[in-house]
Amino acid sequence: MNFKEEMEVRGQAVEAVIRKYLPKEEGFQRIVLEAMNYSVSAGGKRLRPLLMWETYRMFGGEGEAIEPFMAAIEMIHTSSLIHDDLPAMDGDEMRRNKPSTWVAYGEDMAILAGDGLMIFAFETAVKAAALGGAPDRILRALRILSNKTGIYGMIGGQTVDVELTGKPVPADKLDFIYRLKTGALLEASLMIGAVLAGASDEEVGRMERIAGQVGMAFQIRDDILDLIARPEELGKPVKSDEKNHKTTHVTLVGLDQAKRDVEEISGQAIRELEALPSCTEFLKNLIGMLITREK
Ligand code: IPE
Ligand code: IPE
Ligand code: MG
Ligand code: MG
Ligand code: MG
Repeated sequence: MNFKEEMEVRGQAVEAVIRKYLPKEEGFQRIVLEAMNYSVSAGGKRLRPLLMWETYRMFGGEGEAIEPFMAAIEMIHTSSLIHDDLPAMDGDEMRRNKPSTWVAYGEDMAILAGDGLMIFAFETAVKAAALGGAPDRILRALRILSNKTGIYGMIGGQTVDVELTGKPVPADKLDFIYRLKTGALLEASLMIGAVLAGASDEEVGRMERIAGQVGMAFQIRDDILDLIARPEELGKPVKSDEKNHKTTHVTLVGLDQAKRDVEEISGQAIRELEALPSCTEFLKNLIGMLITREK
């Protein structure tokens, strides 16, 4: 199987896992459940569960205990996108080729759907305990998931991003924003895959470092695409950063240098991955693909 075929097969398997863990749309609170499922079902690259799963395999993980965590990371990521698009934040009206959740369901329901997804993610992850996962590994994975989601992770990064919108951002703070708002959930993905498979502390630390580099390259590429992509391809509005007067890596160093930086940082991640004896071709290709991604 070539990489494209393998992506197709893996992608479908990830979709099935995510679907399996979505909540039923029932009860008096049905509307919020619909809004949650609307945004998760709208699609997306599913990069975080794909990376989590592949890392799990790479460290010899077997069995289904990884699945609830794969669904959970995608729920948390989607929750961050729902809130990120709100008028109080980036004010964007399209996401994953559909009207943003707040446009489709109203701001009130979008706030609740984001909260709902984030908490339901943890309710979901805990289900790993009934699927043969070792309790100590699950506990460790939950600690990583909560740390990388919250004030020391994605939420912390979004906080500084929002606080400095429209203001000049010094390079060290921009680095902090990228490492947290985008890097943290990617770090959680690779670390949890490794932890649930029983990797050593050193290996988990290495995956955290690699994911940090992936996150940095991924966010710079996101900033580049915000400038050069077409919305129909991207599935979300372009020039959002300009509209919001955001300082990005691209505004600091220029487009050409930013492209070179994505290449260099991704290259570092791939080289560090290659140093692992169990490194898979698929994982390497997946990370390599992020350099030139068009969406
Ligand atoms: C978008 O993430 C937000 C960032 C962290 C840059 P993705 O580009 O992974 O979005 P989806 O999941 O494919 O929609
Ligand atoms: C996203 O940064 C970070 C999140 C945690 C959602 P952006 O605001 O650049 O993401 P997009 O471009 O809207 O997807
Ligand atoms: Mg934003
Ligand atoms: Mg945004
Ligand atoms: Mg962006």
